[in-house]
Amino acid sequence: MQGKQRVFSGVQPSGNLHLGNYLGALKNWVSIQDLYENYFCIVDLHAITVPQDPKVLRQKVREVAAVYLAVGLDPEKSVIFRQSRVSGHAELAWLLNCVARVGELSRMTQFKDKARKGGAEAASVGLYDYPVLMAADILLYNAHLVPVGEDQRQHLELTRTLARRFNHTYGETFVVPEPMILRTGARVMALDAPTEKMSKSSPRPASYISTLDEPDTIRRKTRRAVTDSGTEITAAPDKPAITNLLDIYSAMTGRLVADLEEDYRGKGYGDFKKDLA
Ligand code: TYM
Repeated sequence: MQGKQRVFSGVQPSGNLHLGNYLGALKNWVSIQDLYENYFCIVDLHAITVPQDPKVLRQKVREVAAVYLAVGLDPEKSVIFRQSRVSGHAELAWLLNCVARVGELSRMTQFKDKARKGGAEAASVGLYDYPVLMAADILLYNAHLVPVGEDQRQHLELTRTLARRFNHTYGETFVVPEPMILRTGARVMALDAPTEKMSKSSPRPASYISTLDEPDTIRRKTRRAVTDSGTEITAAPDKPAITNLLDIYSAMTGRLVADLEEDYRGKGYGDFKKDLA
């Protein structure tokens, strides 16, 4: 593995892994695993920034590990591990805490969104500090590349800022990592509300396709996915639902959205959804 650049990424073992996690992250990890030296983590310390039932969490860690293997990660080519088993993650997070600024963390949109939902006063300090632990995950391994979905871009920017600041203050220590975010599938939206991101923590099962859903469930959820007014199958800013479905289709098949639009010209949503499912 010598001479290869290093890749690090992870998924939280909370809720159900869904199509967004697959297309935004896992599928990409599998496709690059021959090219790099890979570390794919199950970030259980991140999951406990909101309350968890310990028994359920342990089970979810195993479930995520199983999904990693099922989608095609090969333990001969990629190191698959649980974050809390390597104490260096939490230790480096503390060192980086002393370099990170309150102003920077206060600007993180994911924290602001999550804290708004539950009330900022009640949010845990861990939730606030979440991006610093994420920076520690990446910098601990001197990873060059971090394949993630679009929603992690701001956290990656912070990681780069912390690496540069630490290097500047204490001397060259960390590799400054680059995000690897694909053009398609990087932001999969909810099937029942295409202006919301598809999310693990959603209480509405119809909003996501779980990696563990049965084929019939996937067909049903796809059939029931909301559509826009009009009948054309084209991607456009005023057609967020069909744009999302075309993006999913494109990410799953590797075909361009423009070519898919051409194929479905004059056809209805019914045909399109059947093929997509
Ligand atoms: P998490 O567990 O929320 O999501 C895991 C991965 O899935 C991507 N993702 C999506 N991609 C497209 N569309 C969506 N709707 C969608 N929802 C999620 C995420 O961008 C992510 O790549 N903070 C991270 C976990 C983490 C991490 C790290 C990642 C902890 N340490 C170090 C990379 C490197 C998170 O909560 O991901």
